Amino acid sequence: MIPLDNLEKCSTHLDEHAARYLSPREFEEYTAISGSERSRQVRALLERPIAHFTIVNEVYFRARWAEALRAVHPQQGLVLLEVASGDADMIPQMMARDFPHSRYLAANTNQKLTASLRTKTRAIPVDVAVIEGDAVAVGRHLAPESVDVVAFQHGVNDVLQAILCDQAGVDTTHADWMATLPRMIELVRREIDRNTFEQNLKPAFLALLDQLLKVLKPGGLIVMNHYMFQLDLDWGYPPALWENLIPIVRTWTKDIPVAREASVEGFAPQWWLFLAK
Ligand SMILES: C[S@@+](CC[C@H](N)C(=O)[O-])C[C@H]1O[C@@H](n2cnc3c(N)ncnc32)[C@H](O)[C@@H]1O
Repeated sequence: MIPLDNLEKCSTHLDEHAARYLSPREFEEYTAISGSERSRQVRALLERPIAHFTIVNEVYFRARWAEALRAVHPQQGLVLLEVASGDADMIPQMMARDFPHSRYLAANTNQKLTASLRTKTRAIPVDVAVIEGDAVAVGRHLAPESVDVVAFQHGVNDVLQAILCDQAGVDTTHADWMATLPRMIELVRREIDRNTFEQNLKPAFLALLDQLLKVLKPGGLIVMNHYMFQLDLDWGYPPALWENLIPIVRTWTKDIPVAREASVEGFAPQWWLFLAK
């Protein structure tokens, strides 16, 4: 697979990033891992589908999103909207350290994960607001052109899976997301087998981006990233789709009149897409 990032750069800065982006308790967990094991984990993270959730992954993704935000919005005072965050808090954790006078917003439909995100972000020193509801309706909660950056932190797959579930009458709001994942993968496979993936997903995905672009400021960016989890592959996610999600949605976004792709150096196009309004 195409590596997520440059191994040498990531290895060189790992300790410094751990000191910057981890809490004291998390940093203790980090230092309890031997240097050689940390190096092994970084290499595995960058070069293979992710099979283990470790504190090293957390350091890497917090630091990587910091790099992405600095590249697209070097000023302080950022308003960022994350779509389909679930309860992953790597972006608000990073913003509390690097963009402290900022606002972090998340839009999530799943009740349990929304509640968990609220708990995880309660004490962090950044202004957080979690919108419980479909991101397609963010216009009901946010003023037009009020957001600097919209982030899909490994959220493109979640949004597409939720669209398919919606079409098939499968509840993703009240259900346990992980317990529903096998059914989601079945629905994804069906679309691939019938060659209807684009036909059934692209209109709803572009309709979501259309609404997000309304709350985005002119000059603002939608930033999407993706990486592979081994678990999804083990559970039957079509490998070519799982690996090429960003290249696939990139082709769809070419039809959006008000946004065009921005090239940002140092971010592999296989795993990152930057769309500027
Ligand atoms: C597994 S979690 C996401 C985790 C996170 N993206 C990550 O991989 O680190 C999936 C989340 O996507 C959310 N989701 C999917 N489609 C959505 C939409 N259109 N609007 C808001 N939330 C959505 C669900 O509510 C759920 O909380």
